[in-house]
Amino acid sequence: MEHVILAGFTHEPAEKLAAGLRKWVAPELTHLFFSDDGSTAVEVALKLAVQHFSNSGQAEKCEIVALEHGYHGDTAGAMSVSDDSPFTDPFRTMRYPVHRVHSAYCYRCPVGLNRETCHIECVQKFERLLEERGSQIAAVIVEPLLQAAGGMIVHPVEFLQKVRALCTVHDVLLIADEVLTGFGRTGKMFACDLAGVTPDLMCLSKGITGGFLPMGVTLCGDRVESAFHSENRMHTFYHGHSYTGNALACAAANASLQIFADDPVFERIASIARIHAERLAQLRAFSIVGDTRQIGTIGAMELRTDDAGYLSAMRPKLYRFFLDRGVLLRPLGNVVYVLPPYVISADELHQVWDVIVEAVETVF
Ligand SMILES: Cc1ncc(COP(=O)(O)O)c(C=O)c1O
Repeated sequence: MEHVILAGFTHEPAEKLAAGLRKWVAPELTHLFFSDDGSTAVEVALKLAVQHFSNSGQAEKCEIVALEHGYHGDTAGAMSVSDDSPFTDPFRTMRYPVHRVHSAYCYRCPVGLNRETCHIECVQKFERLLEERGSQIAAVIVEPLLQAAGGMIVHPVEFLQKVRALCTVHDVLLIADEVLTGFGRTGKMFACDLAGVTPDLMCLSKGITGGFLPMGVTLCGDRVESAFHSENRMHTFYHGHSYTGNALACAAANASLQIFADDPVFERIASIARIHAERLAQLRAFSIVGDTRQIGTIGAMELRTDDAGYLSAMRPKLYRFFLDRGVLLRPLGNVVYVLPPYVISADELHQVWDVIVEAVETVF
């Protein structure tokens, strides 16, 4: 069982994992497709969305929408839906075109409004696009509520809810990339749960095995899956990786789900969130701190600088400063974030924040 390709075959750890995941996801998401990591889970979702419409006789519905500041992985398709960045720049020619719409980046509002008084007008660019081209669009891909690598940008839940509603009206599939947000990161098992939103496709990885072994899963509902039931063999989803549904990775994922069942994981998550909130409140007093953001176990601050972005000169200085004090943090340019394992102790977490406070006091 060290290696069995999961095509026309199955095994007990995979079946157990499928059953275990179904207990946590929205009841509509009944079907799973295994792959290897976050990027492959995203590739699978995009390809399923496009082939769903082509199998259903709507081959013209093949375009993809993605958000500004999005990040979905480093393979060619995942890079295409990710926003332009230093990560994708050398590969411009390898990326296929997608429609790019606003994200709900409240600190740098794309439509110049203020969250206290706005009505999520940033979603109107997506709305207009769907009104004009909805019949050509297969799917929109989003990192629900938290755009991670793009700068730890936390969205209001209303943004995701409006995206969901617009997708339903225009028959466009909503792909929720929960690769980073899944498995408790945002305070609920999945970020979509916080917004009460059910996506049509969902991508999982990272926390699925507790980080022990690589694994990707893409989930979908009956509607997407049924388009692949056909006598026509051209309607088959011809996608598979050698390590798809690897038995050891499935066993690790089953063990991790068991910890969610047996241990007070969400209490630990709530303790981390409380400490983040307390320490971020302290950091807001510093004038160099432009914005603080938090969702569940992810705490972040955006520092004021003229060279904001991943290549900010702040990044190497901060990285070295933290490392010299025994703390491994990987700032996203001028955005410093803490994304700890759930087993971190309160003392350890405070130690991390103490070093961040020291950096803010002394580095700039
Ligand atoms: C939201 C999101 N999607 C996809 C990926 C890609 O996952 P992987 O690095 O496992 O390919 C990442 C990785 O950071 C991610 O944050």
